[in-house]
Amino acid sequence: MNEETRADLVVVGAGVAGLTAALSAAESGLKVVVLNKGRHWRPEDADQSTSTFYAQGGIAVVLPDNDEDSPELHVADTLAAGAGLTEQAPTAEIVGAGWASIRRLIGWGAQFDTGADGRFLRTREGGHSVRRIIHAGGDATGAQVQAALGAAVVQSPVQVFDEARAVEVLTGASGRTAGVRYRTDDGDGVVWAPTVLLATGGVGHLYAATTNPAGATGDGLALALRAGAAVADLEFVQFHPTMLYVPGARGRRTLVSEALRGEGGRLVDAEGNSVTAGVHPMGDLAPRDVVARAVTAAMARTGAPCVYLDTTPIDDLARRFPTVMAGVASAGVSPVDGLLPVVPGAHYLCGGVATDVYGRTRVPGLLAAGEVARTGLHGANRLASNSLLEGLVMGRRAAEVAVSRRTEPAEAASTQVADELPAADRKSLQDKMSGAVALLRDASGLAAVADFLDAAPRRDQQSRAGTEDAALTLTARAVVAAAAAREESRGCHYRADHPDPAAASSSRTFLLREGELVV
Ligand code: SIN
Repeated sequence: MNEETRADLVVVGAGVAGLTAALSAAESGLKVVVLNKGRHWRPEDADQSTSTFYAQGGIAVVLPDNDEDSPELHVADTLAAGAGLTEQAPTAEIVGAGWASIRRLIGWGAQFDTGADGRFLRTREGGHSVRRIIHAGGDATGAQVQAALGAAVVQSPVQVFDEARAVEVLTGASGRTAGVRYRTDDGDGVVWAPTVLLATGGVGHLYAATTNPAGATGDGLALALRAGAAVADLEFVQFHPTMLYVPGARGRRTLVSEALRGEGGRLVDAEGNSVTAGVHPMGDLAPRDVVARAVTAAMARTGAPCVYLDTTPIDDLARRFPTVMAGVASAGVSPVDGLLPVVPGAHYLCGGVATDVYGRTRVPGLLAAGEVARTGLHGANRLASNSLLEGLVMGRRAAEVAVSRRTEPAEAASTQVADELPAADRKSLQDKMSGAVALLRDASGLAAVADFLDAAPRRDQQSRAGTEDAALTLTARAVVAAAAAREESRGCHYRADHPDPAAASSSRTFLLREGELVV
């Protein structure tokens, strides 16, 4: 096969940002193709292979009838969680566009939990000073969002190419994007389009255990770097404080939503003591980086392999958190006395492809939105439940850019990427990243992982595993370079050899030049 398709916009990824962009652009009359690495979307499927599907807690949004909240308060909470690196202007824009984006999502069919008075139910998560997180199906918010967007796409003119993985963003002689080369089990194809949106999600599978689905392998970051885009803030990999602990398990594990703590759950160590007492004024609902480090400290103190979430204060646990409890049951974990065993787990990349507040990168025509992008909203530590919000707002904005670029002339381009790329053995890479580039880092550990990655053999890109392993290897190298360059501790990035925050700190941007990552 050597299929060629022409479109106005090609979207790589089928989560909240990608499908929001695709639907919005199609509503404006654009011809849109979505490249979906996962299987054909079916409502009855459990695993849609997007991180969106697995999001539990909800969507942080200032509701017009929430008298205790305001956009200014939401921005202030986001800035406080971001540990000095969250940027005020994009944060205010994204937060300010929140309610309108929820209304559009409802228009596409999403339904959120409401009380007897018909108003949205709201919960709280770490770092939020008020209850502002709306949810669906108790703790199945992401599944609801994915289902609504997926069903709307099926009804729309958007074309979805399933099990199609992007292998290269093509750029023409002018340096503008010309389309995307993709690969399926049947062969290669190209979608020619003046605008390319990367909406590929995160990097959880850089680590041995993660809350992310199997497809979270840093694909978009690798595509962007190879196309000449910049990445920023990659050192800030957020570990969720409460991933279900299953001894010896690798890969995706069940997330135990922060909303359990928002509804009264308490973290205790193996001796029954509070994990966060005296650590932060917000206690168990402190920002995520603080709680994750407190959990790690409690495990070190007691020598236990996990801490526990005491669920006994939560009213009607099974009804309010059906997704969590189904995940606990399917992992074969039987909580004793309402105690769920939990550990920190790789969850979200706060940095990403550097974009402005319309998703534009430094490569004309190449956009990024959702977890793969770095807009300045998350800084050094993302505020819980701001990510679905960002995906909705930025997906819409990316579509607006695509509409404005519709008349850009189509360019010819030929492939620039070698058929063989450095690709480390995945298990070794995950073990090394989990050992030296997780919650605790230092210069010598980072240097050892850099040496391992630099020695990765070149492997062909014919299989999905080959493409993903090359993406993981390049992404890991960029995360390590960023972590080595930041000689301070801040937000999600903790350096044992530089335990304090620096007096002045800023984001750092990396580019790929002749195969080398340069600042
Ligand atoms: C959670 O439900 O705890 C996750 C929410 C998020 O990561 O934003």
